[in-house]
Amino acid sequence: MTDRQALFAALKQAAAAKPAIAPLFEQDSGRFASFSRRAAGLTLDFSKTALTTRSLGQLLALARACDVEGRRDAMFGGETINNTESRSVLHVALRNAPDRPIAVDGRDVMPEVTKELGRVCAFAESVRSGAVKGSGGAGITDVVNIGIGGSDLGPVMATLALAPYHDGPRTHFVSNVDPAHLADTLKSLDPATTLFIVASKTFTTAETMANAQAARAWVAKALGEAAVKDHFCAVSTALKHVEAFGIGADRMFGFWDWVGGRYSLWSSIGLSIVMAVGEANFRAFLGGARAMDEHFRTAPLADNLPVLMGLVGVWHRNGCGYPARAVLPYEQRLVRLPAYLQQLEMESNGKSVTRDGAPVRWPTGPLVWGEPGTNGQHAFYQLLHQGTDVIPAEFLVGAEGHEPDHADMHAMLVANCLAQSEALMRGRTRDQARDQLLAMGRSEADADRVAPHRVFPGDRPSVTILYRKLDPATLGAIIALYEHRVFVEAAIYDINAYDQWGVELGKELATAFLPLVTGEKADAPASTKGLAEALRALQG
Ligand code: F6P
Repeated sequence: MTDRQALFAALKQAAAAKPAIAPLFEQDSGRFASFSRRAAGLTLDFSKTALTTRSLGQLLALARACDVEGRRDAMFGGETINNTESRSVLHVALRNAPDRPIAVDGRDVMPEVTKELGRVCAFAESVRSGAVKGSGGAGITDVVNIGIGGSDLGPVMATLALAPYHDGPRTHFVSNVDPAHLADTLKSLDPATTLFIVASKTFTTAETMANAQAARAWVAKALGEAAVKDHFCAVSTALKHVEAFGIGADRMFGFWDWVGGRYSLWSSIGLSIVMAVGEANFRAFLGGARAMDEHFRTAPLADNLPVLMGLVGVWHRNGCGYPARAVLPYEQRLVRLPAYLQQLEMESNGKSVTRDGAPVRWPTGPLVWGEPGTNGQHAFYQLLHQGTDVIPAEFLVGAEGHEPDHADMHAMLVANCLAQSEALMRGRTRDQARDQLLAMGRSEADADRVAPHRVFPGDRPSVTILYRKLDPATLGAIIALYEHRVFVEAAIYDINAYDQWGVELGKELATAFLPLVTGEKADAPASTKGLAEALRALQG
């Protein structure tokens, strides 16, 4: 038995004896203060979990035994912690203070980072000001980011989140190879005033290249081939491929192989964000992340928000055995946060082997999903409250909205958020349900019959992240908090969070099956051949 196995076994034992959550507040009136922490403008409340001082201590010991601090220092120090791709993992450099060196292979990367950020901001500002024009001399009104995965989800999530700060051209995002995505986007656009950003770390991703070629043809058809250079720019680490596409060096924005796709919105991949909200807001976004980085790097484990969030995650996944977690922002503008976190968390920690390639002997990252409240309440919360699985919830809510004229509605939003975490924890007994029915004037027999359906088991855990207002710095801190939580969980699971070999097989087979779908090839495995033939038969 490895040490980790023993530690996870002990965690399971502790979780098996975990106390009910609600009474913990009766026993300790200071529980909220003891089980919440503040940093970088965020408050993390984990008091509505079954953790006690003892089990938290055990988790902190687990973090120490797994050398979370050592691994964290190795990441910040530029060591090659992505061991299957032989790369450093330095998204933190993208928001680091320019005068604080971070070295990769002995070379400080900060001068390049600072320079490229400057180029991105200068280009975005010249598009925003109208200095950059389309081929016919008109200013740019619409920017379309073509990318997928990390080259899409971060920019989409952040531009929606920062809508109140959006004073640049309209931004659109095309990711799916389904031509419907591009067609529906282009329908309302004028080629003469549209700028495309082709965003792809590798510049070989099939979906992105297909969409980019189709967009290029759309521009060339409307404005002529010579206009293409004025309506495209690119973000990539593969500058040769970008040149081959026909995009000039002055419109290529680079980043580095030590920036993982799902950690890349802080890099040139954030170009569409800068176009939308401007340089000052983008720099404030980086600043919020930097504040969280500093906190993660320096705060003691017991006060460290990403560490505590990671430990709560491990407690729920490995101690309690819960298979999923729900992300529930009470902030409509975080509508794409769950999708963004699905890639961040599940592509990072959905792994089955340790860093050394041995099978893991403990569950790794959970299923992550969610929707903003209050919409989710009228959809899937039924299962959260009365379903047979316990799914820990993560609520996010701000003290203020951006609509001062509707403070009353914002108060309703907040009240709903607070009500949900309380209801999940408290539940309702059969007697309480029965009494409620009797008070409503129902007969004894009717109350007995209906009461079981109105029972809420309760004791369902949640954490809540609070902030003042969803401004750029706050968004930066929230995203960095989640990135570092992934890191902490991966360190404890002893997995590499920074590769994604699990997406390869599907890509290979899609390439192999294309001739089958187009009818150029007939033979295929029986299971797939049947589907392809049935689809062809359905074609008009
Ligand atoms: O889905 C796999 C993946 O490699 C993601 O990790 C990445 O974010 C996405 O594809 C897009 O890759 P690229 O930016 O190279 O087009």
